[in-house]
Amino acid sequence: MTTLAILTAAGSGTRLGFDLPKALVPLRGLPLVLHAARRLTASGVVDALVVTAPNGLVSVMSDVLEHDPHVSVPVVVVAGGTTRQSSVAAGLTRARADIDTVVVHDAARPLAPAAMIRRVVETVKAGHQAVIPGLAVTDTVKILAPRGPAEGSTLPAGVDRVAATPARTLLRAVQTPQAFDRALLVRAHAAGAARARTEATAATDDASLVEALGEDVFVVEGDELAMKVTTARDFYYIEKLLTEDVR
Ligand code: CTP
Ligand code: MG
Repeated sequence: MTTLAILTAAGSGTRLGFDLPKALVPLRGLPLVLHAARRLTASGVVDALVVTAPNGLVSVMSDVLEHDPHVSVPVVVVAGGTTRQSSVAAGLTRARADIDTVVVHDAARPLAPAAMIRRVVETVKAGHQAVIPGLAVTDTVKILAPRGPAEGSTLPAGVDRVAATPARTLLRAVQTPQAFDRALLVRAHAAGAARARTEATAATDDASLVEALGEDVFVVEGDELAMKVTTARDFYYIEKLLTEDVR
């Protein structure tokens, strides 16, 4: 069995607010994308890497990855698309014929531990075709009522009405890496391709495209170290995590 990791790194990092694309922002001297690529390699279950780069930065991204002694698997860098979904789709087109399992991971989650990467990939290899890591949520989560014309006319801006409260025990905050049988992931992206063009319609994770096919998705335990760097506050926090060397 041969596993490809698609490492998404084509975003701009608008909410983080650095001058660099987020994946190239150094965390303790090492770009986020390299932290993630090193951990994928260290997992021992990834045979090849396809990295999505922002348009115009394919060769910069290649330089970063090619010269790293800890990234010992073959790396291909491709230009990403306008959304994460289209970037993953672009990455999938570069999977070699012998690939049967694909793990999709975000450079924005630089500290996802090797054991967690193994957990999702090995669960796919054991026969579950779509496997994602999830963490129990500690907040109570509300679903809002859509702001229809009637609602909009009576509610001031910034005030929403609650429609429902899902049982917290059944909620999971999901992370990457997410692992899939290759054929299933290709089918899911093909079926959902029309959504990929804009952020408003694009899937925010790959599992939701599989769910849209009506196929089962399975959850295994996630890891707090796989937190996503979105804002400057996240960056501050993850630097602390790394300093404490909790790899
Ligand atoms: N990503 C990508 N292609 C895009 C958009 C995002 O490959 N067109 C990647 C990002 O590089 C990141 C992951 O998808 O690793 C998750 O996206 P997000 O956290 O939203 O990162 P950015 O899009 O870079 O950040 P922002 O939305 O704040 O601009
Ligand atoms: Mg984004």
